[in-house]
Amino acid sequence: MQSSIGPSSSLRLFDDRVLADPYPSYGALRCTGAAVYLEEYGVWAIPRHADLLAILKAPDVFGSEGGIALTALANREILAGTVPASDGSADAKLRRVLSKQLAPRAMRALARRITDRAERLVDQYTKPGRFDAAVLARHMVCDTVMELMGLPDADREVLLSGAAATFDVFGPHGDRYQQALPLASRMVGMLHERLIRENVPPESWMGAIFEAVDAGQIEESDAVPLASAYTAAAIDTTVLGLADCLVQLARHPEQWQTLRRDPVRWATPAFHEALRLEAPIQGFGRLLTKDADIGGVHLAAGDQVWLLYGSAGRDPRHWGDEADEFNIRRPRNHQHLAFGGGPHLCAGIPLAELQARTILRALAARCFHLTLDGEPVRVLNNVLRGYSSAQLAVELAPRPPASGTLALSAKACQQGPVT
Ligand code: HEM
Repeated sequence: MQSSIGPSSSLRLFDDRVLADPYPSYGALRCTGAAVYLEEYGVWAIPRHADLLAILKAPDVFGSEGGIALTALANREILAGTVPASDGSADAKLRRVLSKQLAPRAMRALARRITDRAERLVDQYTKPGRFDAAVLARHMVCDTVMELMGLPDADREVLLSGAAATFDVFGPHGDRYQQALPLASRMVGMLHERLIRENVPPESWMGAIFEAVDAGQIEESDAVPLASAYTAAAIDTTVLGLADCLVQLARHPEQWQTLRRDPVRWATPAFHEALRLEAPIQGFGRLLTKDADIGGVHLAAGDQVWLLYGSAGRDPRHWGDEADEFNIRRPRNHQHLAFGGGPHLCAGIPLAELQARTILRALAARCFHLTLDGEPVRVLNNVLRGYSSAQLAVELAPRPPASGTLALSAKACQQGPVT
């Protein structure tokens, strides 16, 4: 029941029809109010960039614990005690464990390996003259995450289906939620079984997690939830963001040429522009621990808000009249909220950027033209947005780039984001 007074909507946000193209509904919500009560789900949608940012920066009022997912079951059984669902010092304590592994310095050390992987995969996938951007992105990201986490390759499929299912479970009760629950649980079960000290390389993320347990920084019971949150958070988000970026570049050949002429300058802005336009995580929740005012709408402690990251990226109040356009030259496009913000700002930004720019630069060195070969197929997920398949045709450069260019690109890939 609506406990606070304010604008409301009968929108069924998680119906297939809306998930397939949510932008007209987001536009209507942005016009309706700063906070709009979704009668169907008993939650307040936050559709505008400015309000969403303000909420992210006020974690003492808008808590993550018990409020990330729309159902009490998911908040209790799947999310409780994980990084995104912890607040304050508990969140900071868990984040600290892998902060060194994900810091820009660690990324600089990883750059050569990731660059080599990107060049090898791009070479392999583009050779036939056409490839599936979603499959390439998935191959790249899974290889990276499995290796860093220290997981055996045999577990890849369980992990992939479980990671996507975890995001479905954040949504409301319904068919998609019901189908996802056993897959998400199977992934957690598998991680509990596999992630034991004897099985994980000491230099892996999991090795670092066990080290933190042994040093008394976290409890033994924190280890697997921590690993599963990082694994789930790292895979689909990056895969969908990267594949979407490739689709956008194929749809905008002149922007592909801009990137191709100067990949060091444009690869990272192109990735951020794709994330702004099509946030891989479209929405996440928060629970009010105190009464609060959002753009003139008064909400009460105990209310839940649903942060529409996907809508914030299209908000013309922030991005201007061309908010719906893909433009890699858009100034300050890295200020999008697709990585969240405040204390829960995505912990994996440097890794996501590193993978995206190495793939984009490898493709730029190899492909003159990138075009869509048929209509891409969308993922329908309660939270995730992107493509499960996106066939691209490529016109290859006549010969591989000179080794000097590769050396340059590896060095350039060690740079941080272009701001
Ligand atoms: C394009 C790729 C990615 C996108 C779009 C993305 C998006 C996000 C978003 C929106 C949040 C905030 C959720 C909230 O509102 O609470 C988040 C948090 C998080 N992300 Fe990412 N993410 C990406 C890649 C990664 C990677 C590669 C990793 C791990 C290596 C990762 C690890 C995390 C973790 C651990 C959190 C929770 C942080 C906290 O609550 O303190 N993410 N991400």
